[in-house]
Amino acid sequence: MVAKTISGLEEVLARELTELGAIDVEVLKRAVSFKGDQGFLYKANLWCRTALRILKPITTFEAEDNESLYEGIKNIHWEDFITPENTLAVDAVVSDSFFRHSQFVAQKTKDAIVDRFRDRTGKRPSVNLDHPDLKVNIRIHKNECTVSLDSSGQSLHKRGYRLNAVEAPLSEVLAAGLILLSGWDKRSNFIDAMCGSGTILIEAALIAFNIPPGYYRKEFGFEKWKDFDQDLWEMIYNASLTKQTEFEHRIIGSDISPRNLKIAMENVRFAKFHKDIELEEMPFERSRAPEGRGTLIINPPYGERLQEDDIITFYKSIGDTLKSNYQNFSAWIISSDLQALKFIGLKPTRNIHIFNGPLECKFCKFEIYAGSKKGKYMDLK
Ligand SMILES: C[S@@+](CC[C@H](N)C(=O)[O-])C[C@H]1O[C@@H](n2cnc3c(N)ncnc32)[C@H](O)[C@@H]1O
Repeated sequence: MVAKTISGLEEVLARELTELGAIDVEVLKRAVSFKGDQGFLYKANLWCRTALRILKPITTFEAEDNESLYEGIKNIHWEDFITPENTLAVDAVVSDSFFRHSQFVAQKTKDAIVDRFRDRTGKRPSVNLDHPDLKVNIRIHKNECTVSLDSSGQSLHKRGYRLNAVEAPLSEVLAAGLILLSGWDKRSNFIDAMCGSGTILIEAALIAFNIPPGYYRKEFGFEKWKDFDQDLWEMIYNASLTKQTEFEHRIIGSDISPRNLKIAMENVRFAKFHKDIELEEMPFERSRAPEGRGTLIINPPYGERLQEDDIITFYKSIGDTLKSNYQNFSAWIISSDLQALKFIGLKPTRNIHIFNGPLECKFCKFEIYAGSKKGKYMDLK
């Protein structure tokens, strides 16, 4: 099988899959391949915090032109997977190939599947892009065409707990990935002091209490498959509910905007964490770390929305607040504004390259030491 992810999270996803029990785990570009049985496919969909979708390859063949693509797809025994009464959708990705347009490949694939049914039964499955019974994934690299079934259906970042979002929210998969990358040990406090919709906080709570990220999902693609094993799925889902662990520290969120904080509150309540996540309206500059150790992750607004002078002042003030109010904390900042990050005025001890949608970002770690307000300063010259 192949689990797709965001560029920069491949290693984290590989670790997640290995810990879940996958075998032959191999890191690919924006994906991880692995082996597992049907139960593991269900488990991976339910538990992988950093997977976008889990694909189950069914065949590969050579597709060097339109004709061979059409024939190759038409020869697959689609009746093993759907009936003419079912609906389908096709996703395609092409790279370094005769085919230039993924949309064309998706269309051609759909035609070939539909024609196979029409030729044999006189009836044809129809297309449903939002809630298909079967989602087919085509990947053509050079002239190798891999046909997979998408076992997730809707992308796994759609956890189902986010009722509403602020401007520029983080993807749930990226938020979980950042927490796992930070190495937060769950034996200390966790803070997001620019929490927006509360995505990072809710992902932190799911990790803290060992609750599967798929807990809130209404459905997964595999539930509509012909070979869906309801008993096996129920067993895996019910077993996941018994894995919850205790968490004895604090998860704290704040934001300067009352409107955004209200959105965070609604999402946190919907996710049933209103007793576990503390929320407060507060500018970062006035926020203060609680007693003890902890990890702070913030996702400040992007540079494109602020004037240059404002960005410098803003990032400088973030650095000053970290130095004076977050001693004993590991502070992480994700930003696409690589220039602005320099004005934090602290030397990052880690610097991770990651993508937030199309935006190339840095995820930087700053260790704030107790007793010294100096920390490790960066030379700003
Ligand atoms: C990019 S959004 C964060 C999105 C969030 N990670 C999510 O997933 O929804 C940036 C947030 O920082 C908040 N913010 C901006 N300046 C702030 C400040 N000085 N103190 C606290 N919050 C601030 C904004 O109100 C906004 O909610």
